[in-house]
Amino acid sequence: MKELVIKKFEEVYGFKPTSLGRAPGRIEFVGNHTDYNLGTVIGSTIDKEIIVALGVVPDYRAHELSQDAIYIASGEFSNFEKIKLPIECQIKQTEQNLKWINYPLGIIKTYINNDYKVAQSFCMLIYSDLPAGAGLSSSAAIDLSVSSALIDLSKENVSLDLENYEDRKKIIKLGKESENTFVGIPCGILDQGVCGFGNESSLVHIDCRTLDISLIPFPKNVSLWIFNTHTRHSLINSLYSQRYDECMKAASILGVSTLSDINFDQLHSVVQHSLKDEPIILKRASHIIEEVERVRLIKNIFESSTDDSALKQVGTLLYNSHESSINNFENSTEHLNFLVSVLKEMPNVYGARLTGGGFGGAVMAMTTENFNELSSEEIKKLYKSKFGEELSVLRTNPGKGMQILSSN
Ligand code: GLA
Repeated sequence: MKELVIKKFEEVYGFKPTSLGRAPGRIEFVGNHTDYNLGTVIGSTIDKEIIVALGVVPDYRAHELSQDAIYIASGEFSNFEKIKLPIECQIKQTEQNLKWINYPLGIIKTYINNDYKVAQSFCMLIYSDLPAGAGLSSSAAIDLSVSSALIDLSKENVSLDLENYEDRKKIIKLGKESENTFVGIPCGILDQGVCGFGNESSLVHIDCRTLDISLIPFPKNVSLWIFNTHTRHSLINSLYSQRYDECMKAASILGVSTLSDINFDQLHSVVQHSLKDEPIILKRASHIIEEVERVRLIKNIFESSTDDSALKQVGTLLYNSHESSINNFENSTEHLNFLVSVLKEMPNVYGARLTGGGFGGAVMAMTTENFNELSSEEIKKLYKSKFGEELSVLRTNPGKGMQILSSN
């Protein structure tokens, strides 16, 4: 794909890019909405990605391209048409089809606000084979692919080294800051952490309080599948913020600064007692506290055994997570529930659950290698006859996290 990106960049801008960055999409394996509650979460990169190419306008192109602006071109959104922007620009929330541009713009501004002397005028081309709006975090993939290319383009002045663990952490924190402050989404560190630190044959475990990030070997002979419903609640952002507020309210009533200060043993005593007059808040808190416990159990299982019975235990925990999304966090939908219930009845499936924020998006499943295209076709048919809509299915493997690519 890199060669194609270089070629497209040349077609659009008439010169070669000098810096390329890439970052993959991710799935949330388990640990739903635990990140902004400073709990733990396990995710996996997928082998679909975004590549960003950058180049400063050379003098011989200055008659056509301003050397004092940012140009952004994207294949996915506008057939490689280029858009010229002043650096101080921010796309209004109302300009729906262009809102994605706030992600790259937010990254540039966040680096500048943090005193990184990044380049401030250049041409950018974004290329993606990652389905947008599928709950696979194309936004973090944009953030981190732009970051990697920008760091490379600005290497004379910015000393962030992607090979260095602490620097990599700084980069993912800048990505989160950009989404929180510039784009205005109060997301946690899950997406950036997984897209930034993922690797082949590994799951990523994040302690969102300490920001300790480690890899868990992903069992061989197991496959990950993504079933993308292409549905998305129209109020998705405000529902996410509402869940965020409910979790913060739970913590405040419980007298702690965050829900992950509460351990699992306290759920049936202190928590149920203190929140007895707030049934909805109690359900939200239960979801978070139980999810953190499921992350702990799944990490322990994977680290001690990956035989069939261990994988079945993991699968049961995945189903439990989905049940909790239905009953406690109320962030599932009829489409997602249908898929999980169909998967549960199928042979070769260990477990399945909604992945990501919820309120639409995708279901992920962990299966044996015998679950194949025929099995997924069967699910597509059932889905079509139930909802009259197409389901996209993707078999995926954990892939490499963010990288700078050479531009040769
Ligand atoms: C979205 C957010 C993440 C995380 C998940 C839910 O994907 O971007 O930070 O909160 O929802 O776990």
